Amino acid sequence: MTKLFDFKEKINEENLIECSKCILNGGTVIFPTETVYGIGANALEYTSVEKIFKAKGRPGDNPLIVHICDTNMLNKVAKNINEIEQKLIDNFWPGPMTIILNKTNLVAQNVTCGLETVGVRMPDNEVALKLIKESGVPIAAPSANISGRPSGTKVSDLFGELNGRVDYIIDYGESKIGVESTVIKVIDGKVLILRPGKITPEDIEKLGLEVILDKNIFKSVENGDKVESPGMKHRHYAPETKTVLVYSEDESKMVEKINEIYNGRISKDTNFKLSVIGFTEHKGYFKNMNFIDNGSIKDLDTVSKNIFSNLRKLDKLDCDLCVIEGVKKEGLGIAIMNRLVRACEHNVINI
Ligand code: TXA
Ligand code: MG
Repeated sequence: MTKLFDFKEKINEENLIECSKCILNGGTVIFPTETVYGIGANALEYTSVEKIFKAKGRPGDNPLIVHICDTNMLNKVAKNINEIEQKLIDNFWPGPMTIILNKTNLVAQNVTCGLETVGVRMPDNEVALKLIKESGVPIAAPSANISGRPSGTKVSDLFGELNGRVDYIIDYGESKIGVESTVIKVIDGKVLILRPGKITPEDIEKLGLEVILDKNIFKSVENGDKVESPGMKHRHYAPETKTVLVYSEDESKMVEKINEIYNGRISKDTNFKLSVIGFTEHKGYFKNMNFIDNGSIKDLDTVSKNIFSNLRKLDKLDCDLCVIEGVKKEGLGIAIMNRLVRACEHNVINI
């Protein structure tokens, strides 16, 4: 049985303590972070962590991120932190940055899937920080979704697939950011971005550091390819509906292409149903198509917040195809396009 606590109006301290006890006793709690919801368990206990993999149906070779609330806890899970890593930590924590560090022996072996490194982050969310602090242990947590599905950014989205698979769910409303944390690793004095997120390459460059985007961020990884982060290999974010991503720097060309796709298909099949996940400004241009509003093209913060929830909405519509409008790959647009390219399984039309 899963117990649901509603903290949307107010954080209930008693309920929070109940959840932290659950973590300490080896159970699982879905909790909010500023990026997406996570499925948490005690990162120091193998059998607790095992429950996360089971709840998600997560492949056993995809390591988890460890969530901490202070420096003491950081030193419990990671060692030999160098100057650059410390600089990143000082500047971006608490916040949406996961940093891959050398692990200590205290971290349960299945958290890192046998790797010598561990991904660590201090989330910028009051409930998450309190839960970790009350539990007194670092919390391992992947995104709250069945493996391969879009990450959960609101409880109403994730409840259906995870109810009954965890001990507690804490509802704290919609996630503020909506895409998962930026995952980075410092190699030879440079910052390698393994997964783009709200913290952009420019944000890191402002600290005087050199930044490299991993070559696999927009690539489909084949079996046998060597990857820096195991998560790159796995199928991700895919809705059940067939999806295509369309991008052009010229907005009107994007709209035109979508209409061309629709007209081509409807002329052959009068029952053909097309959904568009698109920008508010374009709403009026998609006649007879089902429009799902992804936010204003001028407001990428809102777009990133909407993506996962809209991909889930799509599957409820029962349409034949969905076309998604893309954004420019810069700033937060890099993270948005990384998620969209994968949601479309690399089915992309660039104009
Ligand atoms: O925003 C987030 O990061 C959310 C919230 C809950 O904190 N968590 C999240 O976790 O997105 P997950 O498990 O869905 O994604 C973790 C990513 C995966 O791509 C995984 O391969 C990578 O981080 N990762 C974890 N540990 C790693 C390691 N030691 N080396 C390389 N990549 C690692
Ligand atoms: Mg995930």
